[in-house]
Amino acid sequence: MNAYSKNKVLLSAENIHLQYGEKKILRDINFSIKDIHREGLQQGQVVALIGRSGIGKTQLFKTLSGLVKPTEGVVKIDEDQHEVKAGQVGIVPQNYILFNHRTIFQNLKIGLDNGETKLTEEEKKRIIDDYAITFDLTDHLKKYPAQLSGGQRQRVSIIQQVLTGNKFILLDEPFSGLDILMVDRVIKLLLKVSTLNEQNTLIIVSHDIENATAVSDTVWVLGNEEGKPGATIKKEYDLCEMGLAWRPEIRTDRKFVELIDEIKKQL
Ligand SMILES: Nc1ncnc2c1ncn2[C@@H]1O[C@H](COP(=O)(O)OP(=O)(O)OP(=O)(O)O)[C@@H](O)[C@H]1O
Ligand SMILES: [Mg+2]
Repeated sequence: MNAYSKNKVLLSAENIHLQYGEKKILRDINFSIKDIHREGLQQGQVVALIGRSGIGKTQLFKTLSGLVKPTEGVVKIDEDQHEVKAGQVGIVPQNYILFNHRTIFQNLKIGLDNGETKLTEEEKKRIIDDYAITFDLTDHLKKYPAQLSGGQRQRVSIIQQVLTGNKFILLDEPFSGLDILMVDRVIKLLLKVSTLNEQNTLIIVSHDIENATAVSDTVWVLGNEEGKPGATIKKEYDLCEMGLAWRPEIRTDRKFVELIDEIKKQL
C-alpha cells in the first residue's frame, strides 16, 4: 500500500456563494486541498470537480481562479492563505485558444515570459526544448496552432501554464472534444505535471467522470440539493483513502467501476 500523509492547506474555499441578480449559481461551498506527501516520491495534488452540464462548474472555476469575485466567501491560496487574485493561478479555460499567429515555440515562451523569474532568451529556449522532449512536442515547435490536432493544442496550453511557474493549475474540461488516444496522452501529461513538483496542484473541472476520476486523488461532486437553489459540493471522495489514487491502470478495477456508478447517481 502507498504510504502517504496530508499536511498543510494549499488552497481553501470558505463559504462561497455566487449569485447573479436573483439567480443563485453556487451555494455554501467549503473545501480545502492539502499538501500530500508520499514516501520517497515527489507527489503533487490532483482534484476533480465533477458535475453535469450547466450546474456551475465554469463559474466555480472562475471563482477559484480569482476571475469572478463570489457574492459571499473567500478563496485562499498558498502557505500564508492569502485571498486569490486573478493571475495567481494558472488557467486552461474551456475551449482554450492559443495565439494562432505565433508558433508553438512562441506560444510556450509566453508562459515563461509571464513567469516570475527573469531568464535570458537562451535559458528560455533550453527550458522549452527540455519540456518539448519530455512531452513529445519537439517536432511541433516550429508549427502554428492551426497545424496541430485539438489534443496537441490542449497539451501545449497545459504546458504553457506549467511554464509560468504557477503551482496551481485549473483546467476546465481538459478532455472535451478529444478522441480516446488523445485523452490518454492528456492524462499522461497531467500525471507527469502532478509529479514535477511536490506543490503542483491541478484542479480538473469536468463532466467526464471516468477520465477525471482516473487521474485524481480527490473527487468533488457539484450538484443541487433538493429544495435549495444553487449548486454545492454534495460529496467528497478521498481516493487515497480508498486505495484508488495514483494508479493509471485503475479503470478495470472493480472498486473503481463501482465508484463511477455511485458518482453518476449523484449527478
Ligand atoms: N454572467 C452570468 N449571468 C447569469 N447567469 C450566468 C452567468 N454566467 C453563467 N450563468 C449561469 O450559470 C449557470 C452555470 O453555468 P456554467 O457555465 O458554470 O456551467 P457548467 O457546469 O460549466 O456547464 P458545462 O458543463 O456545459 O460547461 C448556468 O445556468 C448559466 O446560465
Ligand atoms: Mg463549463
